[in-house]
Amino acid sequence: MREAGLEVGRDEAWNLFGRRGETRVWTGSHLDTVPNGGRFDGALGVVAAIEAVDRLRESPLAVVAFRAEETGPMGSRRLAELPQAFLELHIEQGPVLERLGEPLGIVNGVIGQARGTVTFEGRAAHAGTTPMEERADALVEAARFVLRVRESAKGGALATVGALEVEPGATNVVPERVTVSLDARAPTAQSLDALIESIGFEPTWRLDPVAMSGPPLKALRAVLPGAPELVSGAGHDAMVLAAAGVPTAMLFVRSLNGGASHSPDELSSAEDIALAVDALTETLARMSKR
Ligand code: GLV
Ligand code: MN
Ligand code: MN
Repeated sequence: MREAGLEVGRDEAWNLFGRRGETRVWTGSHLDTVPNGGRFDGALGVVAAIEAVDRLRESPLAVVAFRAEETGPMGSRRLAELPQAFLELHIEQGPVLERLGEPLGIVNGVIGQARGTVTFEGRAAHAGTTPMEERADALVEAARFVLRVRESAKGGALATVGALEVEPGATNVVPERVTVSLDARAPTAQSLDALIESIGFEPTWRLDPVAMSGPPLKALRAVLPGAPELVSGAGHDAMVLAAAGVPTAMLFVRSLNGGASHSPDELSSAEDIALAVDALTETLARMSKR
């Protein structure tokens, strides 16, 4: 960021940013990732942003590397108070562009999402001396629940249990307590409500579907006429900013390997990334002229 002529700092949420001048237009993405994740989710948008801003030395622009996107975007909630416009470049993380044979896509919205946990209580007991019919096994109850979660996701809704905490968590102890993570997503606020209700959990975090809008979307459409438009099933910092009323747009780069993501198989080609950085640069140039 310093080499790109930016003044580097952090905010209270520990987002890292680099600014040049009185900034209205922000670009960037996140640097955190999931366990054993790919190399592109988040990091690509940060590196691309620095490159684009480096090419636009005369423009008052800012780059942000958000903190803690994967855990229910926390850093972007803080930044929503600063930018007047935001543009995020991100790997698609899905197969749509690869199937269409298109290198770049414009995101026009992000589906709604809720997260939470459900805890099952049983009774710890000895694995060798407690008769099967006398057990209160929290993990057996949790397992039945996981199957119901899967069946709850219908009509474009998605529901995932990605983490279990089993206590005390020993091979020879009947599980006493199990905490099940929940990730529920749906294309409309109503279908998200219905999914939450049907699973039966209290979200600790929720964001309704958001639409991209305003000058960033207009500029992106002008730079990429005829580019396919997609709704993102993955969550992004951009959705937090859009939900907070910041005019926001997103540029997707084609994922290879069938759209593999949140896995080490995640991949985009150098050629597609070069096209994306050019498009990002041109869009930022248009936005900063306003
Ligand atoms: C972010 O990767 C999300 O969609 O969970
Ligand atoms: Mn991401
Ligand atoms: Mn991710």
